Amino acid sequence: MKITNLGSQSYASFYVACELYKQMNGDKHSKLGLATGGTMVDVYRFLVELLHKNQLDVSDVITFNLDEYVGLTSNHPQSYHYYMNDILFNQYPYFTTTQTYIPRGDADDLDQEAKRYEQLIDELGPVDIQILGIGENGHIGFNEPGTDLNSPTHIVDLTESTIQANSRYFEHEAEVPKQAVSMGLASILKAKRIILLAFGEKKRAAITKLAQKEVNKDVPATILHAHPNVEIYVDDAAAPF
Ligand code: F6R
Repeated sequence: MKITNLGSQSYASFYVACELYKQMNGDKHSKLGLATGGTMVDVYRFLVELLHKNQLDVSDVITFNLDEYVGLTSNHPQSYHYYMNDILFNQYPYFTTTQTYIPRGDADDLDQEAKRYEQLIDELGPVDIQILGIGENGHIGFNEPGTDLNSPTHIVDLTESTIQANSRYFEHEAEVPKQAVSMGLASILKAKRIILLAFGEKKRAAITKLAQKEVNKDVPATILHAHPNVEIYVDDAAAPF
């Protein structure tokens, strides 16, 4: 695992957008693992620009998103379905024919939904590039501290610190869902290549723990030490050195 300080959020986001673009340009059947959240906003903005400029046909690309809040329908403005449509899929016409998968947080049987999603990853994967953000508590996807290191897609109880951190996207903290459906740590590790991004001072503590090179259940992102192909890009504020 390599941690590289690319200086600013813009530089790092552009770099990762180029990597995603190159992947799809090199293989029209690419499979991408996508994340949501503030960290990814500029990555998708740059990616949409690159796609438009080059008119790349991405209709055979498959995408898998990491997670979705339980209880939010896909048209809820804070759902990750809405985020992805708004920021990427509706911004580039070819994505309308692309297979874009996101776990359903409004499924009647959530455990069944988690199983279905993991099966999809196994049938259609493996993912070529998985992009990840990181929580202040070290979560990846919504795998909170203490998550089983072998976990497949599952239902997660969000921690108080995640609920608080994510309340910035909702009008009131009480509106933040208490659970999510999330790819597990084992699901994430199935990807061939993993790129994690972290920006801002609030992420520095988590990146510092990740730099310690030990797998620690209390900092779920440290499971990435068990994967042979992980790159981490940070800005000055999140850099641990
Ligand atoms: C999002 C996800 C989360 C976020 C993390 C950071 O799909 O799985 O792990 O990447 O919570 O969120 P932001 O980028 O909003 O700070």
